[in-house]
Amino acid sequence: MKLLLGKPVAQKIYQRIKPKPMKIAIIVLTNDLSTISYLNSKIRKFFEFQINAEIIKLEENISENQLLDKINEINERPDIRGIFIEMPLPKQINPLNVFSKISPNKDIEGLNPLNFGKILYGNEFIVPSTAKAVIELLDYYEISVEGKNVVVIGRSIIVGKPLSLLLLNRNATITICHSKTQNLKEITKNAEILICAIGKANYINRSFVKENSIVIDIGTNYVDGKLVGDVHFEDVKDLVSAITPVPGGIGPITTAITIENCLKLCSLD
Ligand SMILES: NC(=O)c1ccc[n+]([C@@H]2O[C@H](COP(=O)([O-])OP(=O)(O)OC[C@H]3O[C@@H](n4cnc5c(N)ncnc54)[C@H](OP(=O)(O)O)[C@@H]3O)[C@@H](O)[C@H]2O)c1
Repeated sequence: MKLLLGKPVAQKIYQRIKPKPMKIAIIVLTNDLSTISYLNSKIRKFFEFQINAEIIKLEENISENQLLDKINEINERPDIRGIFIEMPLPKQINPLNVFSKISPNKDIEGLNPLNFGKILYGNEFIVPSTAKAVIELLDYYEISVEGKNVVVIGRSIIVGKPLSLLLLNRNATITICHSKTQNLKEITKNAEILICAIGKANYINRSFVKENSIVIDIGTNYVDGKLVGDVHFEDVKDLVSAITPVPGGIGPITTAITIENCLKLCSLD
């Protein structure tokens, strides 16, 4: 079994990007401590690339109109070149309204419908970072998806959907599964590459996995203070030909892509 580590992939991305002083705004609506501690480590990494993050902490119960006004205000600030909203959004906020409001030229996460829609045409200038991180990992380890039977579990707007489009752009044969999928195991058992973005700790055990397949675990779940993936690593590791660990898999690559997205936006003039 080959371990698909994220660190060397992230290093390769850092080598190709040129730091440039810039300022971004990070809107935080959650009080969740694990999100905030992850955010702090991300901000330190941004700083290494001369990206200065202004944290804009808003109340979790903010109205959608108040949030939209805030985004408008930041859109108009010339000193801020990128806007990032820490996910998940509170329930009262409609993601489409919020991401439509972020100027496409300041849209670090590629979630404005204009940037997102461009993926359908094969234009991947700014792409949601976790989805792009999976592609970077596959490229680094020279895993071709062309013509392969790839199953993605999860259809969120930030991970599953954009990732499925990126894979389709690379000629994979994609099956997208979700909570309403029937006979999930029958589908995943046929996957040459299985990608999990579910958000359920250790959910995928060997009964879901095809022998000698490649498994990519995007999930980040805390169990008793410990970070674990969606895949039960110990249970599947002897069955698969390659697998990403959690932590140390997709996470570090996602941060590198976020930084690269910031610098791409900064280059737009
Ligand atoms: N490593 C990173 O950098 C990174 C970045 C982003 C997210 N993540 C992690 O990735 C995971 C997914 O994130 P997300 O934002 O996409 O989560 P999300 O918005 O909660 O979406 C979860 C998806 O999984 C599906 N699902 C839930 N239970 C299922 C089940 N039993 N069987 C099949 N499908 C099921 C849901 O289906 P429905 O659509 O039917 O509800 C949904 O499409 C989370 O653990 C998150 O923390 C990691």
